[in-house]
Amino acid sequence: MQRLNGKCALITGSARGIGRAFAQAYIREGAKVAIADIDFNAATDTAKQLGDSAIAIHLDVTSQSSIDKAVAQTIATLGEIDILINNAALFCADGIVDIKREDYQKLYDVNVAGSLFTLQAVARHMVDRGEGGKIINMASQAGRRGEPLVAVYCSTKAAIISLTQSAGMNLIQHGINVNAISPGVVDGEHWVGVDAEFARLENLQPGEKKKQVSAGVPFGRMGTAEDLTGMAVFLASTEADYIVAQTYNVDGGQWMS
Ligand SMILES: NC(=O)c1ccc[n+]([C@@H]2O[C@H](COP(=O)([O-])OP(=O)(O)OC[C@H]3O[C@@H](n4cnc5c(N)ncnc54)[C@H](O)[C@@H]3O)[C@@H](O)[C@H]2O)c1
Repeated sequence: MQRLNGKCALITGSARGIGRAFAQAYIREGAKVAIADIDFNAATDTAKQLGDSAIAIHLDVTSQSSIDKAVAQTIATLGEIDILINNAALFCADGIVDIKREDYQKLYDVNVAGSLFTLQAVARHMVDRGEGGKIINMASQAGRRGEPLVAVYCSTKAAIISLTQSAGMNLIQHGINVNAISPGVVDGEHWVGVDAEFARLENLQPGEKKKQVSAGVPFGRMGTAEDLTGMAVFLASTEADYIVAQTYNVDGGQWMS
């Protein structure tokens, strides 16, 4: 049985990586998906690869007019939005004394404000429509505790966990479930940049940070994007109707809370 039959989802930052894997899993479960990304060419390629159930949408989550347009375009094309995944995010690393205000602003604009105002725009549609909905935010183990070189990214993900709690409690009166997924370390293009940042800051060989973090995962390896899809499908399904304002770790045993 397909668990998301007839549902329409908007997934931010889904041209590649984890968002792309979520889109593929949702389509397998019977949903239609808007691949919404700042990189419209990549979103178009991804939508083509995923077939008729996917459409490409240009979205820059740092721009209110872009959010409004992307939400309106998705509704006009797919008919409705039943599910939102707030997945787009940026990463940066530096010691406290070296953090640049531009990096701080960029990460807060994309990771926090981008998630909040995309959630708001989609929630307004869901409230008006009166049929509830599911909203999933992407947190991180980085939001569960600080890291010496990752203060800005960690704090944006802590904000996502808090935002999930407040939005979850506020929106459940409309039948809208807001929850979050907290991955650990997930291999993919994102980690090429993360590995390069740690090579610079900790004087490591390329690839060494990845080996170190893999060794620290109780499961015995880094995660894959596919490892997260079970939770993303579950939280979007009716099986999760009574789950409100929670953040679930899907991290091979790295964090317990
Ligand atoms: N990869 C990991 O190890 C890991 C671990 C924990 C949490 N996460 C979280 O999972 C999510 C996905 O991570 P990923 O590894 O697939 O990242 P990624 O960097 O591979 O993909 C991010 C996508 O977001 C898009 N994007 C960037 N800025 C945007 C903007 N302003 N508007 C719209 N789209 C924008 C990019 O074009 C890209 O397609 C993120 O929220 C990330 O913080 C990832």
